Amino acid sequence: AAGDPAAGAATFKLCKVCHQVGETAKNFVGPNLNGVVGRKAGTVPGYNYSDANRNSGLIWDEATLTKYLHSPRAVVPGTKMAFPGLPKDQDVANVIAYLAQFGPD
Ligand code: HEM
Repeated sequence: AAGDPAAGAATFKLCKVCHQVGETAKNFVGPNLNGVVGRKAGTVPGYNYSDANRNSGLIWDEATLTKYLHSPRAVVPGTKMAFPGLPKDQDVANVIAYLAQFGPD
C-alpha cells in the first residue's frame, strides 16, 4: 500500500534517537535526513560517515531506501548505523512518505 506520512511520523520515533529532520534538524548520531529521498548517499555536509556509507555509490530513491530500511547492513555492509531495520513493508513505506515531506536545507 502507499505510504502514510502521518503513520510514518509515529514510526520515525524509532529513528529519532539518532536522526533529526525538519527546519531545525542538525547532524546527530546519524546525519540529518532533510532531503534524503532522492539524495546521493554519504553527502550531508559536516557529517562523519563510515567509508562504507560514503563510498556506497547509492542514491536514496524509494526502491533503495525500501531495501535499506528493511536491512541496513545487507545494503551497506559495514555501515555504522546500529539499527536492525524495520520488518514490516508498511512501516517502511510510511516512514519514506514521512521523510519525503522534508526537502533539502
Ligand atoms: C545513516 C535512515 C535509524 C544511525 C542513515 C541513512 C539513512 C538513515 C537514509 C543514510 C544517510 C546518508 O547517506 O546520508 C534511518 C531511518 C531510521 C534510522 C529512516 C529509522 C527507521 C537509525 C538509528 C540509528 C541510526 C536508530 C542509531 C542507533 C545512523 C548512522 C548513520 C545512519 C550512525 C551513518 C551510517 C554510516 O556512516 O555508516 N540512516 N536511520 N539510524 N544512521 Fe540511520
